[in-house]
Amino acid sequence: MIESLERLKLEALESINNCSNETELNNVKSKYIGKKSEFTEIMAGMSKLSNEEKKEVGMKSNEFRTAVNEAIDNKLTAIKDEALNKKLEEDKIDITLPSKKKRIGTKHPLTSVREEIEDLFLSMGYDVVDGPEIETDEYCFEMLNVPKGHPARDAQDTFYITEEMLLRTQTSAMQVRYMLAKGDKGPFKMICPGKTYRRDDDDLTHSHQFHQVEGLVVGENISLTDLKGTLELFAKKMFGNDREIRFRASFFPFTEPSYEVDVSCFKCNKKGCSMCKGTGWIEILGCGMVHPNVLEGCGYDHNKYQGFAFGAGIERVACLKYGITVRDLYTNDYRFLRNFDRKEI
Ligand code: DAH
Repeated sequence: MIESLERLKLEALESINNCSNETELNNVKSKYIGKKSEFTEIMAGMSKLSNEEKKEVGMKSNEFRTAVNEAIDNKLTAIKDEALNKKLEEDKIDITLPSKKKRIGTKHPLTSVREEIEDLFLSMGYDVVDGPEIETDEYCFEMLNVPKGHPARDAQDTFYITEEMLLRTQTSAMQVRYMLAKGDKGPFKMICPGKTYRRDDDDLTHSHQFHQVEGLVVGENISLTDLKGTLELFAKKMFGNDREIRFRASFFPFTEPSYEVDVSCFKCNKKGCSMCKGTGWIEILGCGMVHPNVLEGCGYDHNKYQGFAFGAGIERVACLKYGITVRDLYTNDYRFLRNFDRKEI
């Protein structure tokens, strides 16, 4: 028996050593120490032995079992290690490969232009305010001296929510809101950039939704000269220091007198080109001195205070500044938009 155990041990250890995976190892295990193994058979024969022999064979069989189990455990660890190493080898990442460029996005040109305008007016002590896009007919028209049925409403056909509520057609509505809310009815300077809506057909130069920036200054002894100086600075800041502006008489119900302002063409410098349609000038905004009716309606004493107001389209400023179209601004093609900001990584 002792000899059989010795032989079995050598055989088992060799078989274990030859195993290359877990299944083979399990088979070897049941072959050498499983229920139907030669070892179990040997054990069964032990009852016939003398006590002395039992002791010896018992020791040998324990030794056998321990050796086989240990060898199996070791082999199993080796097989698992090998599999892991193989996987690691296969999954190896080449850290020398250049990474994919991450794009963090860029500011939309409309945002950049709006912020540029805000910075300019902030530097002159203006309040920058925000107003609701859903506006009342009263603030958008009525209190701006545009009563129901006034022909000036036709040019601003818009989206009505009810008879009295609409998507604002102009940021001018904020003139009313701002003055009504101003408790001390004292002087102020404000701009209000924001979204506006009109029932326009979308094309290269029109959009049913666009942005305006409204400006309103109210104080004592405010004159047309102040308005002119302010807008000249605005034009120079947005379109370059060599720019000139000119005032053309116009009509807006909420200003008297009213003007449209042109900036000298920055492409041809007043010579006349396709950009300025041969005139040398490009229209950029509407403005005027605040109508006494508007001041009075908002609780301002028009004998004491005067004011000037202006309204510019932000898209228009952006398009002129960058030589692009309204459609370019809204199609949101990243390849196009990224040209306006180079802070990519
Ligand atoms: N709200 C006018 C428009 O949408 C623009 C405008 C003209 C605003 C004259 C003004 C202004 O404040 O004084 O066409």
